[in-house]
Amino acid sequence: MFPQIKGHVTKQAHVGIPPGTYEEEHARRGFFGRTSHLYHLHPPTAWVRVEGPLRPRLILGERVVPADLMDSTAAPTALFENDDAVVSISRRSQAMPFYFRNGDGDEVHFVHRGLGRYETDYGPLAYEPGDYLWIPKGTTYRVVPEVSENFLLIVETREFVLPDRGLMGQHAFIDPAMLETPDPAPHAESDGEWEVRVRRERQLTSFFYRFHPLDVVGWKGELMPVRFNVRDLRPVVSARYHMPPTVHATFSADPCTICTFAPRPFESDAESQRLPFYHRNIDYDELLFYHAGEFMSRHGIGPGAFTLHPQGIHHGPHPKAFETIRQRQATNEVAVLVETTRPLRLSAEAEKAEDPAYATNWAQ
Ligand SMILES: [Fe+2]
Repeated sequence: MFPQIKGHVTKQAHVGIPPGTYEEEHARRGFFGRTSHLYHLHPPTAWVRVEGPLRPRLILGERVVPADLMDSTAAPTALFENDDAVVSISRRSQAMPFYFRNGDGDEVHFVHRGLGRYETDYGPLAYEPGDYLWIPKGTTYRVVPEVSENFLLIVETREFVLPDRGLMGQHAFIDPAMLETPDPAPHAESDGEWEVRVRRERQLTSFFYRFHPLDVVGWKGELMPVRFNVRDLRPVVSARYHMPPTVHATFSADPCTICTFAPRPFESDAESQRLPFYHRNIDYDELLFYHAGEFMSRHGIGPGAFTLHPQGIHHGPHPKAFETIRQRQATNEVAVLVETTRPLRLSAEAEKAEDPAYATNWAQ
């Protein structure tokens, strides 16, 4: 391509932003396509009124009461979906009285709260807050909580893979050797009836067995459930350059990528930008789930909340974040970002838990 330079700019992106200006990245294909940087006199998110359907959304996940909280036979509650992906929450207090198999796609579960175990064909995996459980399409499993307060975020798409780390090398951010996989733990019971619910094209069919369906005595191969905890992630940072969010990619899939923002030091260089730059989402919807810590680019958002920044409009740091960021050396935030190429629709449950004031929060 052919970069052009016009007017007042900085020598390098995200470094030495001209005083009194706000840098915006206008890019195709996330941060990988053709890109320009624009230097605004005002934050491009500071609109005072919105008319029409397109707006940033804040969904207070703690206000959602998933059906499976009180009814152990119920499914998780979908909050956001499109033809490629579904994002749900589950708050089971009791063990699932059935086994489940997703015939539509892989699932990634993120444990916001709770303790317990997943029973799978491949064996059990324990869970605790901050865990990711990656459950391949077609795995039979059930969730067995050990405490009454559980809060799981579930992201589903056709197939997740671990992202290629490119020049950073295969051990950056997540060393694959630390991924935990289950050991076989066959159930021998044959006195009773067991239900396996299979989801295909988002419809459920139940299969009933006279023997326990988790009867695997051994397995081999490279497709299996996996667990790891965000405390073991090693974020890729630079002291002198603000890295794009893609360095935090945790699971990738063409229509749906998951990134994790984990505790990390800020850029120490005085000229380097510390906050995410403003950008307009052209090719991805960005759904961010706030798990723990103080969220560096957001003011007034707590754990359990989701923000959705849809394609076509700008987002970026809240102005108050600029005031505080230079006094701190690091962030302790843990947040999960789900990026989808198709727009996400909100379910009725998500709309009921929305804080509409968020749409104009940058102007406040
Ligand atoms: Fe973004």
